[in-house]
Amino acid sequence: MDDAARSLISQTPKREPQSFSAYAPSNIALSKYWGKRDKARNLPLNSSLSISLGEWGSHTTVAPSEDGLDHVTLNGESLAADTAFARKALAFADLFRNNCPLRIDTRNTIPTAAGLASSASGFAALTRALCGSFDMELSEPEMSLIARIGSGSASRSLWHGFVRWNMGTAEDGGDSFAELLPYRWDDFRIAIVKVDTAPKSHSSRDGMNHTTKTSPLFAAWPAQAERDCRIVEDAISERDFKILGETVEANALAMHATMQAARPALSYLTAQSWQVLEQLWQARSNGLEAYATMDAGANVKLIFLQDSTDDITSVFPDATVIDPFAGQ
Ligand code: ADP
Ligand code: DP6
Ligand code: CO
Repeated sequence: MDDAARSLISQTPKREPQSFSAYAPSNIALSKYWGKRDKARNLPLNSSLSISLGEWGSHTTVAPSEDGLDHVTLNGESLAADTAFARKALAFADLFRNNCPLRIDTRNTIPTAAGLASSASGFAALTRALCGSFDMELSEPEMSLIARIGSGSASRSLWHGFVRWNMGTAEDGGDSFAELLPYRWDDFRIAIVKVDTAPKSHSSRDGMNHTTKTSPLFAAWPAQAERDCRIVEDAISERDFKILGETVEANALAMHATMQAARPALSYLTAQSWQVLEQLWQARSNGLEAYATMDAGANVKLIFLQDSTDDITSVFPDATVIDPFAGQ
């Protein structure tokens, strides 16, 4: 079976690679992608919707190699070609190149593989850098389609702002890519409450596949996630922060419930993550309007509006506050 992303890459004219640098912001799903209908193409079982993380993301340069060998560096450190990280990045470059050796230098301003969506910014930045290096004329939705092959969440990291990844129905993945939503919300804020920034022991990919395969609760997920995605988008377009926050938090907890029911159980959340949630719920019962979302990692992300910033930082003094629309 043909693959839409691979066909698109092979049909687009290219030059010999030149040095090209690109940036992509990481993103946090407000309505999650969890479960695939096609693992090779990262085709999801439901649509998802995210907000970008501003300056938190990946800076990547792709250049021709000077010595005939492939090279990959992460945060200034050279990686052996057989590390999982280098292998995945080079396998992705293989989609574009005709055996020419490349140098890929990437820097993450977020912790790598810690549930802060480094795979999203990483593969989106790599897509942009490869397209630029080979001078390919592709639109952002087309680059989103390609980035999806590297990591599903990367399809949502081509833009700043609210982004929706439509699951699509085509078998070749030709209609499974993301789009920038036309909503700007200047008061919208995100806080990252760091619990554990070390690399996780189960990748999102493995966790997702294990849950899909073994969790009896998973059957209820795709339809609910699709409904949540719609409610989240409507709440954004109507500026209804309460409905938005309640849906975002419920969606994240439902996703984690599918993992707890997996056999054996999978838990990315630690005692400390739950402690942050308890603190949040306590503060919310005292009037603080903030809601939580968690991904495949122990860290907790909060969403709130700008006028709650002081209250958030007084409850969570170590939180990093992100203004996703600043400078956009
Ligand atoms: P995360 O929660 O950080 O997205 P994942 O398990 O989904 O964790 O993905 C982590 C993987 O993403 C890394 O092991 C690596 O393969 C890839 N990755 C992370 N950052 C980059 C980057 N800057 N460039 C290319 N690939 C990256
Ligand atoms: C919990 O996009 O990292 O963060 O497609 O296998 O690379 P792969 O997985 P990935 O999964 C992200 C899962 C999530 C939810 C989300 O970002 O929507
Ligand atoms: Co990821």
